[in-house]
Amino acid sequence: MKILVTGGLGFIGSHTVVELQNEGFEVVVVDNLSNSSIDVLDGIKSITGKKPIFEEFDLREKPKVQAFFQKHDDIAGVIHFAASKAVGESVEKPLQYYENNLGVLVYILQELKKKGEASFIFSSSCTVYGQADTMPITEAAPVKPAESPYGNTKQVGEEIIRDTCKVNQDLNAIALRYFNPIGAHPSGKIGELPIGVPQNLVPFITQTGIGLREQLSVFGDDYPTDDGTCIRDYIHVVDLAKAHVAALQRLLASKNETNYEVFNLGTGKGSSVLEVIQSFERVSGKKLNYKIVDRRPGDIVQAYADTKKANEVLGWKAKSSLDDAMKSAWEWEKIVRSSS
Ligand code: UD1
Repeated sequence: MKILVTGGLGFIGSHTVVELQNEGFEVVVVDNLSNSSIDVLDGIKSITGKKPIFEEFDLREKPKVQAFFQKHDDIAGVIHFAASKAVGESVEKPLQYYENNLGVLVYILQELKKKGEASFIFSSSCTVYGQADTMPITEAAPVKPAESPYGNTKQVGEEIIRDTCKVNQDLNAIALRYFNPIGAHPSGKIGELPIGVPQNLVPFITQTGIGLREQLSVFGDDYPTDDGTCIRDYIHVVDLAKAHVAALQRLLASKNETNYEVFNLGTGKGSSVLEVIQSFERVSGKKLNYKIVDRRPGDIVQAYADTKKANEVLGWKAKSSLDDAMKSAWEWEKIVRSSS
């Protein structure tokens, strides 16, 4: 069965391509290489023994999207990762974010609508909950006004899919709300490749550990948490990738209850920034150079998932611990630096 993975050479996309191929799916990747490398194809091949079909183009070019679906008229499902995800950049360039994250989504849904029967998986984010009033966060928690254009693209993206599903009963969709994906494939063949200075905590930690950055800034230690630093739900990217396969299989087997569903993807366990640092120090045997600085504007105090729905309905559960994930992130960092 042929599955389109947009953004399939990116961090989460590439790990999902591996899991799809491991399950016997035929994968077609579309990626414009704006935030990924062509070498990822070799990484995927060395893990699975097979290179996915690859088409390099920009999904913002609508005629190319149309031509793609004409050429691959046997696509049974789409997992749509291709999007921009830097919160700060989205504030500077909102239209770029709306075009890339929402324009492209519309083009793909238009093609799926033409097909009739189709399965669609969307990369959403726990950012839609903002600072939720209660922890852990269930799927029933209210969606709060977005803090950034990036966050808004996830909220509006979900609404676009929901509205489209309402009037197209042959379209079956699942939005997956990711908590904080980290780590790398245990083979050391694929992982996160941030361009420039990493904005996210874990790549910044591993780059500091390897000596590429001098010091990690911990954004605030005066939050109302046990150690004063913010709490997040860090999930191993391989666990996250497997959830995509489970979601797709649910749709392909028509096991979904409604034609638009939403799932949280996290571990259910919250970890503070200092706990992540301690985990890094444990698995690497290195002391991390860090200092406490002011809070980062827009940060929420805590967010961790209620995983009951994903566990019970999707039949999926995150297996890796924070230490497992940090170890894989560190191994990957060492491999990347030794080869560059
Ligand atoms: C951020 C976005 C989120 C987005 C996700 C995508 C914000 C507020 N949220 O999530 O919408 O979906 O990225 O990747 O920007 N930290 C430090 N020092 C650093 C980096 C981070 O202390 O150098 C702390 C942060 O304050 C936070 C935690 O580490 O408490 C995690 O930060 P990060 O990796 O940026 O993820 P989120 O903020 O959860």
